[in-house]
Amino acid sequence: MKTLKIAIQKSGRLNEKSVDLLKNCGLNFENYKSSLISPVSNFPLEILFLRDDDIPEYVQDGIADLGIVGENVIQETEVDVAYLQRLGFGKCSLKIAVQNTSNIEDVKELNGKSIATTYPVILGKFLKDNGITADIRTISGSVEISPGLGLSDAICDLVSTGGTLKSNGLKPFADVMSSEAVLIGRKGSENEDLIQELIQRVQSVLRAKE
Ligand code: PRP
Ligand code: ZN
Ligand code: MG
Repeated sequence: MKTLKIAIQKSGRLNEKSVDLLKNCGLNFENYKSSLISPVSNFPLEILFLRDDDIPEYVQDGIADLGIVGENVIQETEVDVAYLQRLGFGKCSLKIAVQNTSNIEDVKELNGKSIATTYPVILGKFLKDNGITADIRTISGSVEISPGLGLSDAICDLVSTGGTLKSNGLKPFADVMSSEAVLIGRKGSENEDLIQELIQRVQSVLRAKE
């Protein structure tokens, strides 16, 4: 019989809730921090623990059948995947922020400015939609320290509790997108019986929480 693979985040905001969801679906597996693949003992499924940024492409390319990842990552990677179920956790928004001392307070004032982000695709579309020309500086992490170092006038990053912005002396002033964790699959694959069975288990866990 075929064994499915589901990709979830290895560590970070979505890891724990993704593991909890799968356990609540009645799936038995070990969750060792050191192993990147974990077989499920009571369902033909293997769990892959990956960097969240890689999950959409793994699913699109069929390396994983399913994935749990933030919508923000899906949009940024511009993959063509099926949204099987919104999961109601990992809620956050992608925001533009500046230093508390900055007098920028409107998107229009970003014209000619530089903005550091790990989301150049989503930010690029947002700026274009708003008729703004700005210099997007793509970096792979610790975006929040960029204005303080003089590397950019603003940042565009995910905000969940707001704690990271606050502790770096930044204030948000524009919402680019809101996001939550979603279950994704390859287009067309939702018709397979095993995938249907898993989607149904996920949906009944979500219903029980309502
Ligand atoms: C996001 C973002 C911030 C932090 C904000 O990172 O890049 O660093 O969370 O959270 P807060 O508002 O609660 O302080 P994420 O967890 O997505 O990790 P990643 O960028 O490494 O994937
Ligand atoms: Zn990431
Ligand atoms: Mg981050």
